[in-house]
Amino acid sequence: MSQPSPIPPSGDASRDAADPSFAPDLSIGSRTTTPYEDYVQADVLTHLQHPLSDDPGEMVFLVTTQVMELWFTVIVHEWQTAADALRRDELTVAMDALKRSTYELEALNAAWKPLARLTPAQFNAYRGALGEGSGFQSAMYRRLEFLLGEKSASMLVPHRGASREYAELEKALQEPSLWDEVLRLLARRGYSIPDAVLWRDPTVRHEADPAVEAVWAEIFAGPQESELVRLGEALTDVAELVWRWRNDHLVATRRAMGAKPGTGGSAGVAWLEKRARKNVFPELWTARSHV
Ligand code: HEM
Repeated sequence: MSQPSPIPPSGDASRDAADPSFAPDLSIGSRTTTPYEDYVQADVLTHLQHPLSDDPGEMVFLVTTQVMELWFTVIVHEWQTAADALRRDELTVAMDALKRSTYELEALNAAWKPLARLTPAQFNAYRGALGEGSGFQSAMYRRLEFLLGEKSASMLVPHRGASREYAELEKALQEPSLWDEVLRLLARRGYSIPDAVLWRDPTVRHEADPAVEAVWAEIFAGPQESELVRLGEALTDVAELVWRWRNDHLVATRRAMGAKPGTGGSAGVAWLEKRARKNVFPELWTARSHV
């Protein structure tokens, strides 16, 4: 009878774990970088932190902001993938991307932890260094909002001087949002989405529509295992997690600066409260009252 091998089947059975030659390869020959560096560019990434004050707490503020920018980038990529797949009627591909994005949104939201209890005195210690810099000027966050259907041409204004950011935002403004693609898919499946909604100007914000709400009420009341119910629930997860990010941001801001104006020139908390009150994919929420 053969004995089970202590070494995973894919390993070389003639080597054992105590053998130093089992360790990773330390020689890189004449290379000037490692293959890891070539792929990850960790050296670039870990030298992009340039705090502007002497306060030791500024580093975590800066890195948390950079980490969130990276998550925004991944999430934009997922929603773009989902929107493209919906356009091609590839619902499984779209669902996979949306599901991944919910795990990424959870990781994004968990990134609030180090900043969630910032006191006004701690924030004041480096707030001056930010000058007029504000997350409000985040181009990637704006692309994320545009994909949700929250379009606004005026949000391009702060990016006029940055040609790549501006071009990417302009393109995102003109393209149908993820929500537009969802509604077009429903129309192709025979649901009566009004033409005025389907072929609206893609550069303006999608406003909640009673006919869209009725369609979702019908879908949600139908067979629970249907792929459209699953799509609706995945999109609701996305909407809820975006709302959570906005609320965590709002509470962290309230703790760190009370009712003072923001570095970006807004009224601060009062302005963020108004923004956080909006529902993402509004008809997915209101339809629930009619099921
Ligand atoms: C506790 C630290 C933070 C405070 C006190 C704060 C404060 C504010 C305030 C007051 C605004 C309103 C615009 C303004 O006048 O500046 C704002 C907007 C914004 N902040 Fe923060 N923020 C904090 C952390 C962050 C972080 C870590 C990010 C990550 C990227 C971020 C992203 C944003 C975004 C995207 C907006 C625009 C929101 C919108 O357009 O609805 N903030 N922030």
